[in-house]
Amino acid sequence: MLTNFEQIANCFAHPAPACLTQPSILAAYTGAFGLAVLLAAPFGWRMAVRDGHAALRTFRRLALAAIDIVLTCAVVLVAFHYVRPDALAGVERVPAWRILWQATVYALAIGGLVGGAAAGFALGRLGARLSGAASRLGRLGVVIAIDGPAASGKGTLAKRIAEHYCVPCLDTGLLYRAVARDVLRAGRDLSDTAAAIGCAKSLNPATFDDPALRGASAGEAASVVARIPGVRAALLDYQRDFARSPAGAVLDGRDIGTVVCPDAPVKIYVTATAEERARRRHGELEKRGENVRFEDVLDDIQRRDARDTGREVAPLWPAKDAFQLDTTHMTIDEAFKAALDIIEQRLAGAAPPPAG
Ligand code: DC
Repeated sequence: MLTNFEQIANCFAHPAPACLTQPSILAAYTGAFGLAVLLAAPFGWRMAVRDGHAALRTFRRLALAAIDIVLTCAVVLVAFHYVRPDALAGVERVPAWRILWQATVYALAIGGLVGGAAAGFALGRLGARLSGAASRLGRLGVVIAIDGPAASGKGTLAKRIAEHYCVPCLDTGLLYRAVARDVLRAGRDLSDTAAAIGCAKSLNPATFDDPALRGASAGEAASVVARIPGVRAALLDYQRDFARSPAGAVLDGRDIGTVVCPDAPVKIYVTATAEERARRRHGELEKRGENVRFEDVLDDIQRRDARDTGREVAPLWPAKDAFQLDTTHMTIDEAFKAALDIIEQRLAGAAPPPAG
């Protein structure tokens, strides 16, 4: 009975061409190549039509995980070699040229996987360009700034606009939510200015998809740290870098049109009455199975409005040249259509920005 290690060692002792011609090995290579193409294609698509930064982050994470696995296997094999040298005793000595040839075959196999991933990525991008949405790809080329109070629907609107024009979208509220989360996780108080600034400076964008950032309490905590000028200053570069995407970008938040991208050619200030916003938020929470009183949701929204509009730095306020979109009596589809009309008219130069 061969040990696992002997089996692996014997595999290296096979004549190299056998590796290429054995049907099972060929099938495994082809399967792995196909799988790499299939797995990478959605990332290519997403990179082309949505949040390119997020796609790159996921790609990087996958690559690091692969390197991790390869290194761990190498360490385990080397350790085994020293701990159980007797395991090698029965293994036939292999000439150096054969090991080299074998290494080339393995390198080709790994290269094939990487090539498969690259091919899949490119296919995904191509698919995105050839799809119906492709005609809009890169047509925007400008920043769209969307601001508005909590639960005004600006996030949903921003995402739909970004998808429509195939440009990346940044929900800047997530940055403040992540800072508040990191402060609390470090065991500090939200009003601890130094801790909050430290967390803002060392913010890791890879953690923006953390489900803990989605809840109402995260939003409430975010509005507390968002009052700290040092926190806002620390988050500015990241937001402006994002806005520099050559295809254009959509950013939503509170101060995009006034502070982050004051030169954005299209600014939309989305609003709705506090009661309507509370009604929408309450409906969402009920759908998620959370049992909260409407009055509490309304209270929460009014408290956040007061904090966001009343703070000294970058308060929530429409930019002078922002189009105001009151969605109180609109469905999300109607709001989306109205926003598209505003954008298209601005892009065509038909509508000058409203004079403040
Ligand atoms: O959009 P949101 O609910 O995720 O935002 C959470 C809090 O973050 C909000 O109450 C105020 C703050 N915020 C901000 O001050 N500036 C931004 N550009 C975005 C959010």
